[in-house]
Amino acid sequence: MRMGGAVFGLKFIIPLAIVLGLSAYAVVPLVDDLTLRWFVKDLDIRSSLLANTLQEPLQESIAERSRRKVVSLLDRAARDERLLALAFCGPDGNVQYKTSGWPAAVECRDPQVEGAAPQPLVKLLQGPVHVKRSRIERDGDYMGDLILVHDMSFIERRSADTRKYVVVLFAILGIVISMITVFIAWLSWRGWITAMKGLLRGELTPQLGSSNSSPAVQPLLSDLRALVHELNLERRQQVGSGQTWTPERLRELLRDELAGDEILVLSNREPYIHQRTADGIEVSRPASGLVTAVEPVMRACSGTWIAHGAGSADRETVDKNDRVQVPPGQPSYMLRRVWLSKKEEQGYYYGFANEGLWPLCHIAHVRPVFRVTDWEEYVAVNRRFADTVVAEARTDNPVVMVQDYHFALVPAMVRERLPKATILTFWHIPWPNPESFGICPWREEILKGLLGSTILGFHTAFHCKNFMETVERYLEARIEQEASMISFGGKLTQVEAYPISIAWPEDDRSPSIEHCKLEVRRLNALPATHRIAVGVDRLDYTKGILERFQAVERMLELHPEMIGKFSLITIAAPSRSSLDEYQNFEARVRALAQRINSRFSDGGPAPIILRIAHHDHDEVQRYYRAAEVCMVTSLHDGMNLVAKEYAAARDDERGVLMLSQFTGAARELAEALIVNPYHIEQGAETLYRALTMPEAEQRERMRSMRALLKDFNIYRWAGRMLNDAARLRRRERIQAKIHQHSEPALLKRVV
Ligand code: F6P
Repeated sequence: MRMGGAVFGLKFIIPLAIVLGLSAYAVVPLVDDLTLRWFVKDLDIRSSLLANTLQEPLQESIAERSRRKVVSLLDRAARDERLLALAFCGPDGNVQYKTSGWPAAVECRDPQVEGAAPQPLVKLLQGPVHVKRSRIERDGDYMGDLILVHDMSFIERRSADTRKYVVVLFAILGIVISMITVFIAWLSWRGWITAMKGLLRGELTPQLGSSNSSPAVQPLLSDLRALVHELNLERRQQVGSGQTWTPERLRELLRDELAGDEILVLSNREPYIHQRTADGIEVSRPASGLVTAVEPVMRACSGTWIAHGAGSADRETVDKNDRVQVPPGQPSYMLRRVWLSKKEEQGYYYGFANEGLWPLCHIAHVRPVFRVTDWEEYVAVNRRFADTVVAEARTDNPVVMVQDYHFALVPAMVRERLPKATILTFWHIPWPNPESFGICPWREEILKGLLGSTILGFHTAFHCKNFMETVERYLEARIEQEASMISFGGKLTQVEAYPISIAWPEDDRSPSIEHCKLEVRRLNALPATHRIAVGVDRLDYTKGILERFQAVERMLELHPEMIGKFSLITIAAPSRSSLDEYQNFEARVRALAQRINSRFSDGGPAPIILRIAHHDHDEVQRYYRAAEVCMVTSLHDGMNLVAKEYAAARDDERGVLMLSQFTGAARELAEALIVNPYHIEQGAETLYRALTMPEAEQRERMRSMRALLKDFNIYRWAGRMLNDAARLRRRERIQAKIHQHSEPALLKRVV
């Protein structure tokens, strides 16, 4: 910052110095000329005065023909310091009387000596002189001319002085202007930097794409967006050391930094579910951001993924150790399934995790429910999974990647049994402020469980900060803010932000955009020119689905020309449907869609097409590629990978992403149209803006988001965490060695 300020100062001061130098160079001759004129005028006046004074005595002395008197008169007058010489020229044009020092070069008839000559300066050998002729008359008779010659060599000295003063004046002026300007620039720079820091922290991000911004500030916002984007890229470039992350690079990292170390992943949701259907056993990928993110990482690094086997045909597809190789058809890692009874699932998953922690951590205005029985199941199931991790580990120091709020207690439980393990825990949902988290009756236990982790990751720095403040509030722990470290029970936990991402689609075998557009419209019985927005979520009250519908309704009220020409297709995967809250929510979603459709359909296409069903990856991709707009309106979301998937799917660089300001993704994708989902009017106008956005603007925004996502992909997310883990493992090994070597020495000394 200081360096930047100095460079900025120099960049300003050097041109200013050049401009002032040139100005001084141009001004000096002008000042010379002006002062010369003043001096000449001054000498003209002096000469006239003197001539007038001498007029009378000179007339008399000449009339008397007294040479002595005339010469003495002229000599007395010549005592003036500046007066070089005087002479009296007779009517015949010859010098009759002159003082000593009369310059021979000046003659009575010299044309330059004519009256108050237009050019009264004469350059003589001894330097420039001023010559003035005055007529001497007596009673109207012409007697001759009095000629006064003034020395003007002082003008050169004065001119040199003037030049010096002008240069000094300009230099002082330059310094003063520079100082004032640099001071003002510094003040505005500080303001700008503060604003930019705010932007970088994401504090102002939501306003950047806001449809509320006046058109006058839109270009400025675009510039800011670009600048923030560049700064983000630059900052992240440093973090990720520039090179693009690929599965190969991740494998290299494992080979080089974590050579031979085994990787164990633990999550509640399994990456592949086997279901019994009428057509036999089918395998599918669940609608889960966690699975979307972690699965490509596991493909790259092999290892074992431990998860709850929840599919109806899961037991039939595992071996005697409850293991199955996945992905089906191209096995690259092991899935180890853990079975839970209905009671366990009810208490641990539906109860404590999804009725307690889920609403506790999301600000979506649904009250958390905490039951002792749920807590007991949660503790017991966490113990079961921790035991499975220990059982699956082939070494005493595996790298264990614990995923999400279902397993807050596992890190400490594994740490107890495998003290040398490196435990990376990632919390996929937001972390609330200490007051909100304090509602949880088992808050200390949850925090202690998580502090068994070597590294604890969140999507954003804001969630890290909330977590550190929560620990500070409820535990006796030492917190090193600068290093983002928590020391608790003699163990250190690094708390870091690792924004999760997606695998960038490299081998693009997706059907063409045109094909997807036609296909999606055909499937939904829509005309070929129909405009489409898509929303893809689990059917969850945190996703802002009702608010999204309301925005569509308001948009149609405000822009009736869109009625019959636009539909929002909502793909909602059923989720946690045995919970009352989710059943009620589904009922409200269906009712609202129906009400809006009956208001605007009028026999034509429905404005809201609701598809409550599981859609596989290819189907979802088709919708992404077909829709003009993707609406992500979460009321609160750790990251939201749908936003990133939509941008990644648009290799035509078209389409507009509407993105809730309450998602982690909004901190990264500033080129989306950022909205407050609770502000229905704003949502309606933003949707209209998205549907009518010029192609060039779509391209500019999409290109920028895609460039970021290509680079900041899921391999970088995993790579950064594993890199940090490798660094901490190295440090521990070195410390262990130091300990080993210092122990005998210490013993000797003690003995
Ligand atoms: O969005 C948070 C999250 O825990 C994701 O990590 C995960 O994809 C999703 O919720 C899972 O929901 P569930 O497993 O309950 O269907």
